[in-house]
Amino acid sequence: MIATVRPARKLEGAITLPGDKSISHRALIFGSIASGESRVRGLSAGADVKSTAGCMRALGVDIEDSTISGVGMRGLRAASAPLDCGNSGTTMRLLAGLLAAQAFASELNGDESLSRRPMDRVVVPLREMGAHATWPPLRVGGRAELQGFEYKAPVPSAQVKSALLLAGLYADGVMAVIEPVRTRDHTEVMLAAMGAGVTVNGPRVEVGRTESLEPLDIDVPGDFSAAAFWLVAGGLVESSDVRLVGVGVNPTRAAFADLLASVGFRVLRAKPRLVANEPVADLEIKPAGELHPLRVDGGIAAQMMDELPVLAVAATQIAGTSVITGAGELRVKESDRLSAMEAGLTAMGADIEVRDDGWIINGPRRLEGARVDSVGDHRVAMALAIAGLIADGKTEIEGAECVDISYPGFFDHLEYLC
Ligand code: S3P
Repeated sequence: MIATVRPARKLEGAITLPGDKSISHRALIFGSIASGESRVRGLSAGADVKSTAGCMRALGVDIEDSTISGVGMRGLRAASAPLDCGNSGTTMRLLAGLLAAQAFASELNGDESLSRRPMDRVVVPLREMGAHATWPPLRVGGRAELQGFEYKAPVPSAQVKSALLLAGLYADGVMAVIEPVRTRDHTEVMLAAMGAGVTVNGPRVEVGRTESLEPLDIDVPGDFSAAAFWLVAGGLVESSDVRLVGVGVNPTRAAFADLLASVGFRVLRAKPRLVANEPVADLEIKPAGELHPLRVDGGIAAQMMDELPVLAVAATQIAGTSVITGAGELRVKESDRLSAMEAGLTAMGADIEVRDDGWIINGPRRLEGARVDSVGDHRVAMALAIAGLIADGKTEIEGAECVDISYPGFFDHLEYLC
């Protein structure tokens, strides 16, 4: 599908975002091995979360709308075919951890993009725990006894951390993960609420063997990574007034809002509250004031990796040179996002140079509508759509249906706000 985006004169209105994708995956997976029925309202309707639900059903779990009939920690049964993780790295990596600890063997596969993504980052430490784990193709499990150990992760990754903590629930001894930079902590928050023995000490997270998990009864907060597109759009389109209702602002996710505010964007947090043990607020976005160049390095890039494509769009409108480094992980996401954003924004007239681990972007540049390629990557498609809102003329985004991976209503929201 080709989506056409025209310049916006104003963005106005209140919207509720899809349920947080990371929390939705975890609720489905952890709820599946809880002892009893979990109720999870507001799960993401995106295709990635559907992939997780499909895998859990294939492993014998009954999931109906917001109800997950947990089978207990030892109740999963072998699927009759390889588990299809679709486009979802979170599904594949978290399930690799959980299934490595099961007495039966599993095979996990996915679409062309997922098949290219690195899985050695979970396979290697799972083997160190004593699990059977091979890749490619990804095969795990079939040996009951795992042993916890202290893993110093070379790359900050919440997916790897979560996979190892899940395996750690079944292991003898303590499984500890030490990260170079703290990543999103939804796994720690949710497992602790379910009664697992999780201890967090700075960048070190550990879990002990757990016999049972209590079911969940939660509402899933709105997805901050979906909010990010409107934080930038509302700041760049003059006279905008956008309200995002019920957005998850967990500090390990929301650093992007603070970064935007530090360079002159106006993002206000209203009605702070706790939902499912996660901090939530309404976000109010007004046009930005004078903007200052962006600096992102490895220290903070890991905390806003999913928001960097739309940050590149913001940088094209800022006077001076914005420098984004420490973002080499963008090359191994659903696409090579460093190259995809460089190609799309260059076609629209931006001054952007791609480096090994980031971009150098000179602004401000008036963007011109163009035909651009999403390369099948949801976050690239949405970031280029936001660029289209501030460009002259018509922007056409090829492969725009991929927004369904995380944000099925994205183009409806765009139309509503315009
Ligand atoms: C996620 C972790 C991040 C993020 C992804 C979701 C998660 O990936 O980019 O969209 O839910 O744990 P990495 O673990 O590869 O950094």
